[in-house]
Amino acid sequence: MAQFQFLILLIFLASQCESAKARLKLMWRTFDCVTNPDYISEHKCIIIEPEKSLISTELQYIKDVTKFNATFKLFMPRKPSRNFQKVIDVNVDICQFAKGIHGHRFMTIVIKAFGKQGSQLKCPHPKGLYVYPNINIAENLPAFLPETDFKIEMNFLTSETHLFNTSLTGFLFDPIKRKPKTT
Ligand SMILES: *[C@@H]1O[C@H](CO)[C@@H](O)[C@H](O)[C@H]1NC(C)=O
Ligand SMILES: *[C@@H]1O[C@H](CO)[C@@H](O)[C@H](O)[C@H]1NC(C)=O
Repeated sequence: MAQFQFLILLIFLASQCESAKARLKLMWRTFDCVTNPDYISEHKCIIIEPEKSLISTELQYIKDVTKFNATFKLFMPRKPSRNFQKVIDVNVDICQFAKGIHGHRFMTIVIKAFGKQGSQLKCPHPKGLYVYPNINIAENLPAFLPETDFKIEMNFLTSETHLFNTSLTGFLFDPIKRKPKTT
């Protein structure tokens, strides 16, 4: 429960920092995906060059999925060391979510990043090709985030198995103050 209260605090802070949001830019470093071959035969997970602020995903589902959840974890470095510490960890039922039963405001922000393709995140989820171009997490991420490195893990799962795991690393920087360090 302490974690939930922390989340509320973060959402509160986010609403207080709209100006910071306009300033910071996001750059992705890595985007890794692992799929369950029983459900997804092919996938693409791409960071869009040259700005590296957007990502795209394509998934070929070879089985229908009637019900699934998404988990979202956000990690930031724990000072003074560079080790990542988990700051957000949510698990939402996508079917409930699509019906407008919003359990987690933070997850709403994430799903918004999918833009129009967000409607493809619903139940049931028939087999076929799903394309999510130009996912803009930066635009929708809460502004409480300072200039920092971060890591996101987002997984899609049914009650029986994991379908699709993603891991992303990137950083937020102030484009006025400095050029992004790309290493
Ligand atoms: C996804 O991650 C979960 C939990 O870390 C793991 O148990 C599962 O095997 C992974 N699934 C795939 C398809 O790699
Ligand atoms: C899916 O999310 C709901 C709501 O958070 C949770 O109660 C349920 O246990 C989750 N199911 C799985 C398979 O993680």
